[in-house]
Amino acid sequence: MASTLVCVLALAATGASALSIQQLNGPGFLTPYSGQTVANVSGVVTAKGPDGIWLRDASASSDGTSSTSIYVFGRAFGANLTVGDGIVLGGRVTEYRSNKDYLYLTQLDRPILSAKLSSGNIVKPLVIGEDTLSPPTEEYSSLDNGDVFGVPNNVSLISTANPTLQPRKYGLDFWEHLTGELVTLRRPTALTKPNQFGDTWVAGNWNVSGQNARTGLTMTTKDANPEAILIGRPLDGSANPTDTKMGDGLADITGVVSYAFGFYRILPSTAVRVRSSQMPRLPGPTRLESKGGCQGITVGAYNVENLAANSTHHGALAEHIVRYLKSPDVLFLQEVQDDNGPTNDGVVSANLTLSTLTSAIRSAGGPQYAFADVVPVDDQDGGQPGGNIRTAYLYNPALVRLHKPNPGGPLDANEVGDGPALKYNPGRIDPANGAWTASRKPLVAQWEVTGGTSTEGKAHVFFTVNVHFGSKGGSSSLHGDARPPVNGGVQERMDQSVLTANFVRDILSKDKNARIITAGDFNEFTFVEPLKQYVEMSGLKDADAADKIDELERYTYLFDMNAQQLDHMFVSDALATKVEYEHVHVNTWPEFGAQVSDHDPSVARVDVCA
Ligand SMILES: *[C@@H]1O[C@H](CO)[C@@H](O)[C@H](O)[C@H]1NC(C)=O
Ligand SMILES: *[C@@H]1O[C@H](CO)[C@@H](O)[C@H](O)[C@H]1NC(C)=O
Ligand SMILES: *[C@@H]1O[C@H](CO)[C@@H](O)[C@H](O)[C@H]1NC(C)=O
Ligand SMILES: *[C@@H]1O[C@H](CO)[C@@H](O)[C@H](O)[C@H]1NC(C)=O
Ligand SMILES: *[C@@H]1O[C@H](CO)[C@@H](O)[C@H](O)[C@H]1NC(C)=O
Ligand SMILES: *[C@@H]1O[C@H](CO)[C@@H](O)[C@H](O)[C@H]1NC(C)=O
Repeated sequence: MASTLVCVLALAATGASALSIQQLNGPGFLTPYSGQTVANVSGVVTAKGPDGIWLRDASASSDGTSSTSIYVFGRAFGANLTVGDGIVLGGRVTEYRSNKDYLYLTQLDRPILSAKLSSGNIVKPLVIGEDTLSPPTEEYSSLDNGDVFGVPNNVSLISTANPTLQPRKYGLDFWEHLTGELVTLRRPTALTKPNQFGDTWVAGNWNVSGQNARTGLTMTTKDANPEAILIGRPLDGSANPTDTKMGDGLADITGVVSYAFGFYRILPSTAVRVRSSQMPRLPGPTRLESKGGCQGITVGAYNVENLAANSTHHGALAEHIVRYLKSPDVLFLQEVQDDNGPTNDGVVSANLTLSTLTSAIRSAGGPQYAFADVVPVDDQDGGQPGGNIRTAYLYNPALVRLHKPNPGGPLDANEVGDGPALKYNPGRIDPANGAWTASRKPLVAQWEVTGGTSTEGKAHVFFTVNVHFGSKGGSSSLHGDARPPVNGGVQERMDQSVLTANFVRDILSKDKNARIITAGDFNEFTFVEPLKQYVEMSGLKDADAADKIDELERYTYLFDMNAQQLDHMFVSDALATKVEYEHVHVNTWPEFGAQVSDHDPSVARVDVCA
């Protein structure tokens, strides 16, 4: 065995051996022949693109180890060739990537045609899942140690380790073992929304895991859906539609498997075509309406995506809040910008932004909300430059009010006094702590119920913490070189979780029956270290779990191939047994042009009487 290998390598080094395409691809991610010039490579042209052709070894059948096809890069090379031509060529074997964080694509460049041996050969695409294996549905790479979101991340690189492909087990290995092949996807389903170029994530009719009721794929513990594949730019120069959406049924797709811009992708012969869409287009309104008293207070949470005073989406947000969220008694907002939005000057107040929204809500038939925020220090909380995004509360003063209000300043660290009562109401958590550098400081408030039947002399007090943790900016692609992939900002979110959990514990240490609701955009999944720690340290319960929401319906955001949950609610034990919770998919369901924010809002109902 060893001597055969030496022999092959020795021949290759002379540049004269007749290597099969499968040998060129090699058993791992990288070719064993990188940089070498080879001759007498033979195959049949299966597809042509603007910059090259795809060639399949017609004498080999896919044996489930590595690809029997390859991309031949050379703009002029395909000019006199037609799909179905049998050719012999020479060229240089190379690995190409446009960015150091991506995977390499093995290709033949500097091609020289030795002979055209035949033409009119029948070219049949491999039907994925029928003529090939089916994609694995949970793990991406043997280098992820079983968890694509494991910490620490970027402990190894595929380009260095070059693991032997295990296409039955790992998604990247699966797509790699088909690179260059002409394939067909039967009855594919669109999983998310395309990017601006129309690149569309789909799954074919193979078995999937994580399918939600809308037929998108939801990310769950140790399952980030490697069975999904991106459909890239069509080879015939047409353009994919940009208004497809989760759950759209598509016509069969035939194209070649490639890798570019950080993802395995299929370059289809022609544009994606929609055959059917999920109905209804939008979800119904929440079933969680306020009971108008302490026995049923509703709280909503909504990342309103860079809302400035002059934003065009106040009206649509108001419609969501009134019609779909049924005007929650307290609304946790994230990404509220200052009064002149991204204009980068000293303006930090958001009173105009917030009063514009409350007026729009009133006009849409909702209550006359009051609002509360803590104005941040200029340019210190991250987000769009100049926007000074912050978290803020809207509340219905007919039912709730701040308990002994005493607003803190941007640098005042809130404290829990006897009562328990807040030193600043509302006030921020440890705002000077380095964990919040260029990030939003959580806004804590204490409320009392004034309306409804809450009149036995009790204030029916509850606490809220409105969070918007640091972003995932700087993350590497799930199909990228670093394994496990870089989860941008994970350490910052870890530190932010600790500070927030400690504050919650301060309240609970003074009253273990305190009613506490923490909610907002945590920019993280519950099964990743920062939120695992948050729950453990704070003792709070995940409202999704407490209300037994199906794990596959726990999503508020679409990213790449996944429906996923960045927005959460965690409640104290006093509320956990009776919390009712709902994610209202007004933004993840419609096409990009019709979404109002990039996040779905959520609503909960809690009993704060006891
Ligand atoms: C390459 O092909 C040519 C012509 O078909 C043949 O003469 C030559 O021996 C082949 N070389 C190898 C290394 O197979
Ligand atoms: C294509 O064929 C024409 C005519 O035979 C020839 O002049 C030209 O060089 C060929 N182009 C390539 C890229 O081989
Ligand atoms: C991963 O780590 C390598 C060093 O091993 C580094 O060169 C690379 O930039 C890192 N990747 C990312 C995406 O940060
Ligand atoms: C798909 O799933 C079904 C039901 O679990 C199973 O019987 C079948 O073998 C699976 N097919 C493939 C190709 O894995
Ligand atoms: C809002 O005002 C900013 C300047 O403060 C301007 O750049 C932006 O285009 C305006 N947006 C709209 C929707 O009018
Ligand atoms: C913003 O509104 C609050 C009351 O909600 C008020 O106390 C504060 O002075 C206002 N700030 C500005 C800059 O108008």
